[in-house]
Amino acid sequence: MASFSAVAYYIPYSSSFFPNKPPKFNNRRRNPVFKFTCKAKNGETSPGKLDRRDVLLGLGGLYCTTSLSANPMALADPALPDFKDCIDATQPNKTFINCCPPAASGIMDYVPSATTVNTRIPAQSVGSDYYNKYMEAIQTMKNLSPSDPRNFRQQANVHCAYCDGGYNQLGSPKLFYEVHNSWLFFPWHRWYLYFFEKICQKLINDDTFTLPFWNWDASQGMQIPYIYTSSVISPLYNCFRNPDHLPPSVIDLDWSYGDKPEDPSTQIKWNLSTMYTQMITQSKTQTDFFGKAYRAGDDITTLDGAGQIEQTPHNNVHSWTGTAFDQSNLIDMGALYSAARDPIFYAHHANVDRMWTIWLNKLGGSNFTDPDWLNAYFIFYNEEANPVRVRVKDCLDLTNLGYQYEDVPIPWLDVSVKPKPRAKAKTLPSAPDPAHVFPTTLDKPVSVIVKRPKKSGTGSSEEILVIEGIEYDKRNYVKFNVYINEDDVNACRPDNTEYLGSFSNLPHGHRMTVKTNKKFRISQVLEELGARDYDKVLVTLIPKSNPVKINGIKIEFDS
Ligand code: C2O
Repeated sequence: MASFSAVAYYIPYSSSFFPNKPPKFNNRRRNPVFKFTCKAKNGETSPGKLDRRDVLLGLGGLYCTTSLSANPMALADPALPDFKDCIDATQPNKTFINCCPPAASGIMDYVPSATTVNTRIPAQSVGSDYYNKYMEAIQTMKNLSPSDPRNFRQQANVHCAYCDGGYNQLGSPKLFYEVHNSWLFFPWHRWYLYFFEKICQKLINDDTFTLPFWNWDASQGMQIPYIYTSSVISPLYNCFRNPDHLPPSVIDLDWSYGDKPEDPSTQIKWNLSTMYTQMITQSKTQTDFFGKAYRAGDDITTLDGAGQIEQTPHNNVHSWTGTAFDQSNLIDMGALYSAARDPIFYAHHANVDRMWTIWLNKLGGSNFTDPDWLNAYFIFYNEEANPVRVRVKDCLDLTNLGYQYEDVPIPWLDVSVKPKPRAKAKTLPSAPDPAHVFPTTLDKPVSVIVKRPKKSGTGSSEEILVIEGIEYDKRNYVKFNVYINEDDVNACRPDNTEYLGSFSNLPHGHRMTVKTNKKFRISQVLEELGARDYDKVLVTLIPKSNPVKINGIKIEFDS
């Protein structure tokens, strides 16, 4: 059994492996870069091993000597990071941080083909042997040389570089690349955890070790799991968590900064309703669930790309866990550049990843078959500290990846937790037309009466409420809640049908204004509210954060 000395468990937030001064924005430092070589997996040196797409994307020059002048934008292609340069990432406090990985060359393509399948277990029910192993793995990671790409801080930096502006988009040097707010969210985080887990296995010499999952979707898992909270300082402990949210505090999957705690049994009930809404009512299509297509040349800041689960509960679990000094400083979990410095991050994301398996296996969902999703690739360091390139298409079969999730109860699949109308079919109060209200800055509650479109011709008759042109600085925490046909929002809860859900943003890099949309499926909701025949609906927005600007609200048919 491992024993740990009390020193060096905790890497203070202020200590940096990268002591260089942050540069000015217009002079962001370019850091050592990944270099591709011509080597294919079997060690052959042959441009023939590259697929045509890579060559068209312009990687040919990086790989070998092929000098193609193909315009990478000429085809629809996946959005890809430009690994030629890694630049300083942006922190929410507007300074810069070097999150770049050590320079690499000889990047190999990697396709997993596991022969055994390990089971990831719920964090609340692990035993002491497991707990000790897990501590040993994380402690060993923290003790590795700071320049080792498997070092814990280096691993956390991988998340920062990929989300806070470390890379530009290949072929579009003016556009940031990132792995949130689009269909890359689920597969990128799956691969990230995959290598993190492999590194743990290697460091404790146990290839059966798995990451635990934070089972926040079931009542037994709705607290910070005890293994992360040891008051004896442990490598799983992190001091940048909200002190009001330590056990026995029950997580609020719909948490907004400043919310007051609820009675635990009520909170659990609301959480299950939130899961039902997000996984079932609002996740009907691939785009609903995964997020929107992100292709070469797309600007992530105007994509309106986040899937339902990424926003709620994913974002809210982050901000509930992190500190709450102020809304722009929600370290570690509440801001993306710092989130992965908290070991609980990996358990949170294991559960997010588990939601993907549940959506496919229990809810009839299916993966995209779009080649621009399947062929999107990322680079990680593997357990041998070697850089590898992996593609989305190779992470879809968990058997090949060598893990599965323990089959624990999923209480929110039960229709009894489905939200119910609070006060069905009443006369709507009067409220202005959106044209008289928007654009507006959402610094107080806003209600409008929105006309429903008339159905003409064939095509989907599913109605979508669109909050249009939501503008904010991406470095800010943002959240607002949305209600439909509700004349008393203070009485309305996550277990009421009238509460549609929320829009949220975790502070992350990118010093620019985002302009995006948020969509909610409302046909079924209106049916349940007895409002199927109404020609108008009442929509109310309640700000829960720094104000955002909103440009309009409309209802359209699903396309
Ligand atoms: Cu990459 Cu939970 O965030």
